[in-house]
Amino acid sequence: GSNEDQIRIGFSQAMTKDDWRRSMNNSMQLQASLYPNIVLTIQDANYEIQKQIDQIEVFIADSVDILIVSPIQSKPITPVVQKALDAGIPVLVVDRKTENQNYTAYLGADNIEVGRNAAKEIIASKAQDRVRIVEIQGMAGSSPAEERTIGFRQVIDQYDNVSIVSQIQGDWEKESIQDKFRAFLQQDGNVDYVFAHNDRMAKGAWEVARELGLEKKMSFIGVDGLNGPNGGIQMVEDGILEATVLYPTGGDEAIKFALGILNNEPVSKNNILSTTVINEVNADIMKNQFDKINEQRTAIETQLTAIHQQRELYYAQNNLLKITMAL
Ligand code: FRU
Repeated sequence: GSNEDQIRIGFSQAMTKDDWRRSMNNSMQLQASLYPNIVLTIQDANYEIQKQIDQIEVFIADSVDILIVSPIQSKPITPVVQKALDAGIPVLVVDRKTENQNYTAYLGADNIEVGRNAAKEIIASKAQDRVRIVEIQGMAGSSPAEERTIGFRQVIDQYDNVSIVSQIQGDWEKESIQDKFRAFLQQDGNVDYVFAHNDRMAKGAWEVARELGLEKKMSFIGVDGLNGPNGGIQMVEDGILEATVLYPTGGDEAIKFALGILNNEPVSKNNILSTTVINEVNADIMKNQFDKINEQRTAIETQLTAIHQQRELYYAQNNLLKITMAL
């Protein structure tokens, strides 16, 4: 028997080892802590499919009020999402999609547009005769990887002089692509652009090119555009990346959406967060904007801590009062 007014949100996170997902979790936690009656439980599947299925099963067995899921891959997570729906639990899918449209709502940036944005950056900055691109893809079977490829090709295919000379299959982490990219560059160093499906793999590709003394010959584009010392925005400022395509985590929005669904507010099925290209033209502006948001977050956190301390003090004094009155 849990408290009647409690809102129990279960979030099944694909993994939490990278800064993007850590930032997503942080903004969810901060947003949730603004509502005293929300209990947010985050489970980290550590990129293990069976673990993610099991964790969702536990959320179903616990009858959480709403489930938020960022699926590792689309197909294997689809049945358990269906199971939650069948059990009457609304499901908000974030960032990566399941296989069909069977969820209460989806929230995330349009990954086809992310791919198109990356391609447009290349087209805009290269008037050169031939442009040879290596595309480094995210994990097979995860929707952002599939959709980024689709969008990228939609634009690139319109230009006869621009071609994708190699596609390297990665798994979102740089270790998955470095040997393959090295092997490719060793037989063909004539590459103008590398488009990697995230900034971590773009950085990994840049490291390999630098090792071979080729990093100045080619330009690198990533995705995510996180703020902070290791993030994509800083890599644009440092000249490692020509550009990164912003992929917002949507952490705050996810909590707001979850509440909207629970309050029976009209919620659209597919909710698209905006994306944009961050390059040397706007990297400073973006950095300043995100810094300001972070300052505000820190201020909110400080205020929340103060409120909690006040509340504890109040209860302590109240207890003291009760004891005194009972004497
Ligand atoms: C984080 C991440 C991001 C990428 C997203 C795609 O785990 O790999 O870098 O944009 O997942 O779902």
